[in-house]
Amino acid sequence: MQKFKHFHIRDLRIDPPLILAPMAGVTHSPLRQLVASFAKPGLFFSEMLSAKHLPDDIKKRSLWLRRTEAERPMAYQIVAPSSAEAALGGSYLSDYGAEIVDLNLACPAPNIAGKRRAGGFLLSDLALVEEILVALRPVVSCPLTVKVRLGVKPDLVFLQDLAAVLEATGVDAVTLHPRLTTEKLKRRPMWEYIGHLKGMTKLPVIGNGDVVTREDCLAMFEQTGCDGVMIGRAAVQRPWLFADIMGGGPTITPEFLLATYLEAYRLITDFFPDTQALGRLKEFSWYFMKNLQFGHRLAARMQNLPNLAACRDLVEKEFVRSCGGEVVEVG
Ligand SMILES: Cc1cc2nc3c(=O)[nH]c(=O)nc-3n(C[C@H](O)[C@H](O)[C@H](O)COP(=O)(O)O)c2cc1C
Repeated sequence: MQKFKHFHIRDLRIDPPLILAPMAGVTHSPLRQLVASFAKPGLFFSEMLSAKHLPDDIKKRSLWLRRTEAERPMAYQIVAPSSAEAALGGSYLSDYGAEIVDLNLACPAPNIAGKRRAGGFLLSDLALVEEILVALRPVVSCPLTVKVRLGVKPDLVFLQDLAAVLEATGVDAVTLHPRLTTEKLKRRPMWEYIGHLKGMTKLPVIGNGDVVTREDCLAMFEQTGCDGVMIGRAAVQRPWLFADIMGGGPTITPEFLLATYLEAYRLITDFFPDTQALGRLKEFSWYFMKNLQFGHRLAARMQNLPNLAACRDLVEKEFVRSCGGEVVEVG
């Protein structure tokens, strides 16, 4: 078993220093439970939650807020375009019992960064970031963190100014996904900026971006000096990735993959009403089927199916054949 050095976000111990990323439509309670069943990361995230809807979401016990005991500690991430909305959502989450409230300053999606002028858009206006954090800090009694990208261009002066704002407003930790706010997930993330940020601030720094294997994870710690590593897509494809990283991963066989997929199916269909479960299952399948030699075809066929029963039927008939006698080796 690999021993990683834990770190603290204020008084919260993050051990191991591995974090499951927030992913809209993907990092729901069933996925977090599946990940935890192999090995628990030191911190889970919710997907981003619209701050202004939180009072209503909490009243209605929204599925996006729910979690089991296994999904602790957890950072609930809010997205908000203004200090008023952020403070409203942050105070509700803090009272709700979040271990961490995280502010999304990273999302480049047009409906968030464009239409709503929130998420990554905010990095174009550091004064507004400061105003939002000044409003958020006093109403959030638990640790407050932010997730950022690099902004519109790689710029050390900007990063230094951002770090100064985060420290001055009482933020407790920062996650950096070192891509620009204008780009998607294709180009290589600039890990060197995680190292630059680490040298600029005394806040704990969590690095994120394109960690796919145990070796990548060790390399990110080594190359950047970051305190924690956050993993997104690769932990959806391989929910046992944290176990791999810690040195206790399973042996991958077609039977293991099928059993894991069926467990995901069970968790998703138990948790969500059928109408929502279908979309969540299809989304999960895009990632998970990459483990199979012909999995892409299977995931593509699934996208057109009308209901859960048809998806299950397809998987039972085609899963093993889609492995093509072998599973895809990663790394
Ligand atoms: C489908 C999807 C949804 C995402 N949703 C969020 C989100 O709600 N909040 C957020 O901060 N980042 C979100 N991200 C970005 C991830 O948290 C992460 O920064 C990105 O995927 C890079 O990490 P990875 O290479 O380990 O996947 C999302 C990414 C994906 C692929």
